[in-house]
Amino acid sequence: MRIKPVRPRAAGASVPVSGVQVVFLVGFMGAGKSSVGQALARGLKWAFEDLDRRIEAREGRAIEQIFQQSGEASFREAEHAALRELLAEPGTHRVVALGGGAFAQAHNALLIKQAGGCVVFLDAPVDELFRRCRQENTERPLLRSMEQFQQLYESRRASYAQAEQQIETSDKDVESVAAEVARRLGLRPREDR
Ligand code: S3P
Repeated sequence: MRIKPVRPRAAGASVPVSGVQVVFLVGFMGAGKSSVGQALARGLKWAFEDLDRRIEAREGRAIEQIFQQSGEASFREAEHAALRELLAEPGTHRVVALGGGAFAQAHNALLIKQAGGCVVFLDAPVDELFRRCRQENTERPLLRSMEQFQQLYESRRASYAQAEQQIETSDKDVESVAAEVARRLGLRPREDR
């Protein structure tokens, strides 16, 4: 997949970006990447892809099984391979939600940059992220104590901040965050569907 390059801008900038054809949502566990991604794709009439689901389909196992049976290093390899596969496919007008660790891996961030993908960092205070994860019924192998969660968040934050846009999601619902992403990127629904 070759995506029309966009000029990088400072995190938090709200100037519309034209020509965006693929949006990657990044951020920590609980940031709402998948739910916002689905809402954004629905609103734009774009396709939606969740990288974790692609990993599971390729591996024939759930994320937690990959972690349990093969370890995190193996999961990261599967994640990188799935991302490579996704980027190699033709196709524009799609929203891609990445797992919380994907963009923090330098080689993944580089691949996305080379493909010209527009990256949006969804953020919230770490205690809110933790609370959201605890409330959800999703198995997350890296969701352990609050201390470990916070350490991991802090170790990744600088990577997430490389995104072209950064959006604070705290106290906002999914639809309003999706609308904010679209507004920041100057995106409108496709008219040919
Ligand atoms: C991970 C986050 C998860 C999933 C895997 C690893 C991480 O995705 O990719 O458990 O390293 O933070 P979510 O961010 O969607 O929970």
